[in-house]
Amino acid sequence: MVRITAVEGDITQQHVDAVVNAANTAMRGGGGVDGAIHRAGGPEILADCEARFPHGLPTGSAGWTTAGRLPARYVIHVVGPNHRAGQTDPRLLESCYEDAMRIADELEVGTLALPAVSAGIYGWPLQDAARIAVESVGRMAVEVSVQEARFVLFGVETGEVFSNEVAKWSRHRCA
Ligand code: APR
Repeated sequence: MVRITAVEGDITQQHVDAVVNAANTAMRGGGGVDGAIHRAGGPEILADCEARFPHGLPTGSAGWTTAGRLPARYVIHVVGPNHRAGQTDPRLLESCYEDAMRIADELEVGTLALPAVSAGIYGWPLQDAARIAVESVGRMAVEVSVQEARFVLFGVETGEVFSNEVAKWSRHRCA
C-alpha cells in the first residue's frame, strides 16, 4: 500500500528511486521542473529521451529514462495537459499520474517523487491540480508495489494545498 506524502522542496534534490518530470510532447527539455531536472541530471537524460522517444509522447501519457546524475535511478516523464491552451479534460491529468504509477511499479520503484504536473506553465488551477494528483495516485495505491509517493512542491502555498489534499485522502482511506 502506497504512503502518500507532500513536502516543500526541490525535486532534483530528492534521494528516491524515481522522479516524475512534467514534460511536454516533444520530450526535449523545457523550463520549470523539466528544465531543472535536465540541468541537474545532465545530458544523459536528453540523449535517452531522444533514443527511447524519437517522436515524443502524447498528452496524458508517461515514459521513463535514466536519471543521469540525479540522486535517483529513473526519470518518469509525463506529459500534462496544457490548461492554458484549452486542454481542460481532467482525465488527461489523471492518466499522467496513473501511467507514472504503473511504470514505477514495473521498474520496481520503492520511493517516487512527483511534482505538481500542469500546475505551472500549463496553468492548471492549483486546488484542482492538487486534488486530481492525490486522488489519481491514491486510486493506484492498492495496485502497485511503490511504498512512498512523495509530492515535492515549490513554494509555501503549493505545499499547503497539496498537504491538505493528502490529509483528506488519508482520512477518507481510514474511514
Ligand atoms: N522542484 C519541484 N517543483 C518545481 C521545480 C523543482 N525544481 N521547478 C518548478 N517546480 C514546480 C512549479 O512551481 C509548478 O508548481 O512544478 C510545478 C509544475 O510547473 P511546470 O514545471 O511549469 O510544469 P507544467 O505546468 O506541467 O508545464 C509543463 O513547462 O517547462 C515546460 O517542458 C515543460 O512545456 C512543458 C511545460
